[in-house]
Amino acid sequence: MNETATIILDGKKYELPVIIGTEGEKAIDIRKLRQETGYITYDPGFGSTGSCKSAITFMDGEKGILRYRGIPIEQLAENSTFVETAYLLMNGELPNRTELNQIRVQLNDYSVVHEDMQDFFKSYPRASHPMGILSAMVNTLRSFYPELTNTEESINKTFLRLVSKVRTMAAMSYKISRGHKVVYPRQDYTYCANFLNMMFDSPVRSYEVDEELVKALNIFWILHADHEQNCSTATVRVVGSGQVNLYAAISAGISALWGPLHGGANQAVIAMLEEIKNNGGDLSNAVKKAKDKNDPFRLMGFGHRVYKTYDPRAKIMKKMCDIVLSKLTKSDPLLDIARKLEEVALKDPYFIDHHLYPNVDFYSGIVLRAMGIPTNMFTVMFAIGRLPGWISQWKESLDDPDWKISRPRQVYIGKNRTDYAPIGKR
Ligand code: ACO
Repeated sequence: MNETATIILDGKKYELPVIIGTEGEKAIDIRKLRQETGYITYDPGFGSTGSCKSAITFMDGEKGILRYRGIPIEQLAENSTFVETAYLLMNGELPNRTELNQIRVQLNDYSVVHEDMQDFFKSYPRASHPMGILSAMVNTLRSFYPELTNTEESINKTFLRLVSKVRTMAAMSYKISRGHKVVYPRQDYTYCANFLNMMFDSPVRSYEVDEELVKALNIFWILHADHEQNCSTATVRVVGSGQVNLYAAISAGISALWGPLHGGANQAVIAMLEEIKNNGGDLSNAVKKAKDKNDPFRLMGFGHRVYKTYDPRAKIMKKMCDIVLSKLTKSDPLLDIARKLEEVALKDPYFIDHHLYPNVDFYSGIVLRAMGIPTNMFTVMFAIGRLPGWISQWKESLDDPDWKISRPRQVYIGKNRTDYAPIGKR
């Protein structure tokens, strides 16, 4: 028997259908609520609102579970590559050997960026934030590839084109921002090795690709590849619902990711840890400020809308800090501060009562710093990783029979009817 929810409004009973997901998540289908009752629901921030059905990513925030297409994140981080995971998200299954070889060839073919685009990068003021440049340049790609349609073939081609070119554009913008010669992608390197080489190779010092760093970068991007209906993914879906082209929808997602409460947190964590270091390592002020209701400061890299326990991605990222730093025989005083801060926060009743644990951004900046990625590129690194998720979610929305243009309602709290006053009577 189908489950229903009964609500009573103005003394009248209504039965609403209940939808149950494959992992037992329950949702009340309120699509007919306004039409039948005149009521709407009120849920700022959408904490209790399901905006779609999705078969891509499953999260259990209470148990700390994250799976892409059913596969636990821990298994993907251990065994997969970013390219393979991107294919999994987009196509629903892991690729076989032939499919994997095919996409490797295509990623290589699409990896170069139109030479004319270099002029755009060069015209930005040097201090521009790379996230603003990336968002604009992804939108610009539509002018270079106007042939995009919504056929399966065209979408798959644009998927690979974006996944390949965004990585090249990120490295290119870094090189140009430093006044250095752009390094082109090479066909003999894998996806991640190519990125590191484009970032760090130079005419006067050749870059030695280190397979352990390549592995670490693969894991970093796998951990970021999708996270169901987060702020930027929801943005891609909302913007996409107006039927804009994919480049425009992704450009909007990049802008949404930039904020410090979302992907920009990885940069904000480093700023916070640096400040603690400059204060002689005194954590108490940061913890006190984070707990103070009258202070807008929050412990960056802590807390999550869905996870009410340790973020499974943060666990893997924390281990990676040790692996990458020991591989590079480096130490980072910020890692010691981060570890102490985590220890203090996790024992503090405020953080315990609010279920606040480290999220993916808490340790990710330390991994990126160790790799030599500059701080203002951290959120760009997140964006490259999230790209397969954004595109997969956008594609899923195209095929969704329940899909509609996104258009929430509101509760109006402004003035009642007020007559226009001529200028002399105001
Ligand atoms: N430090 C201190 N207090 C916090 C923190 C934090 N980092 N996060 C949440 N809280 C408190 C809030 O003050 C609030 O307290 P109250 O109930 O006593 O008023 C309570 O916990 C719930 O917080 P909300 O803001 O309602 O939680 P929400 O789910 O809306 O926010 C968010 C989630 C934005 C991630 C929040 O935890 C935050 O601002 N964290 C810091 C920024 C950050 O790390 N963002 C990255 C998130 S992961 C990602 O996007 C990739």
